[in-house]
Amino acid sequence: MDLKGRDFLKLLDFTTEEIAYLLDLAADLKEKKKKGIPVDTLRGKNVALIFEKTSTRTRCAFEVAAHDLGMGTTYLDPSGSQIGKKESIADTARVLAGMFEGIEYRGFGQDIVEELARYANVPVWNGLTNEFHPTQMLADFLTIREHFGHLEGIRLTYMGDARYNMGNSLMVACAKMGMHFTACTTAKYFPEEGLVAQCREIAAQTGGSITLTEDVDAGTKDRDVVYTDVWVSMGEPDEVWEERIRELSPYQVNRAVMENAGEKAIFMHCLPAFHDMDTKIGAQMGERFAVNEMEVTDEVFESPQSLVFQEAENRMHTIKAVMLATIGE
Ligand code: CP
Ligand code: NVA
Repeated sequence: MDLKGRDFLKLLDFTTEEIAYLLDLAADLKEKKKKGIPVDTLRGKNVALIFEKTSTRTRCAFEVAAHDLGMGTTYLDPSGSQIGKKESIADTARVLAGMFEGIEYRGFGQDIVEELARYANVPVWNGLTNEFHPTQMLADFLTIREHFGHLEGIRLTYMGDARYNMGNSLMVACAKMGMHFTACTTAKYFPEEGLVAQCREIAAQTGGSITLTEDVDAGTKDRDVVYTDVWVSMGEPDEVWEERIRELSPYQVNRAVMENAGEKAIFMHCLPAFHDMDTKIGAQMGERFAVNEMEVTDEVFESPQSLVFQEAENRMHTIKAVMLATIGE
């Protein structure tokens, strides 16, 4: 499998076999890291990490993975670069491609990362856009595979805002890997029709399926994975909080949902999560709208069924695999 020189912008651009290869590579890199066997074959190379939105996991995963591989990193924070303000994406791409062997971009529209990739003649990796979060998918699917031993046939339900980066990406990833994806939410938050149709076509080839339902009982019955994400994403205005809490509260992942899914079901979340009032925004919004938990209850988040921290660790191993495969040795 040769992915050298490829961008990693969305999973729609990759075949089932290529995704499986990246997961295998990540599993191997994880094992080597645990055994203390260094893989630093990208020594002397450098990567640029552009973050137009904040991050804990993705930034740390890229930095640690790059350092493990022997590379240097330059972090460009949401206010610290000229991108989009004084310098176009096309110019930025060509400047950075002259100094770095790869570029990570986290920001707003998918069109921005696609444009960056068009102008940069080094691999560009999508560290999250409004539409897609593909590196998160590899971590999630490595975690599911570690837990169940396989991906094909796994039934995954996503609850909450299914029309944004996480809902879209999980639907695509499940279709690619022959899994059964259900978006369980109010119809307003279903993924966009065109993408649903595209994923149904892919699923028809892989043995997967795509279901959209507003019915919590049917949508969460006998599931392998129950997944959710924040109800208000980065970059969205504060004004939407009230509406989101009202409309998405029926789709909270709580004990009843997990019992309906069954005792073998696991809970996943890309994080960060509002599962208690211990964060500044969580406390503010909780007080304003009289709630003390949002997309997931603290009970489920802290339960043995919750794999969220294994999932978070896997961000690093999978991002390492993406950089190693696309930069090449
Ligand atoms: N899951 C994820 O992308 O986390 P960060 O926003 O902390 O990078
Ligand atoms: N939907 C969330 C995902 C964070 C990893 C956001 O875009 O803020």
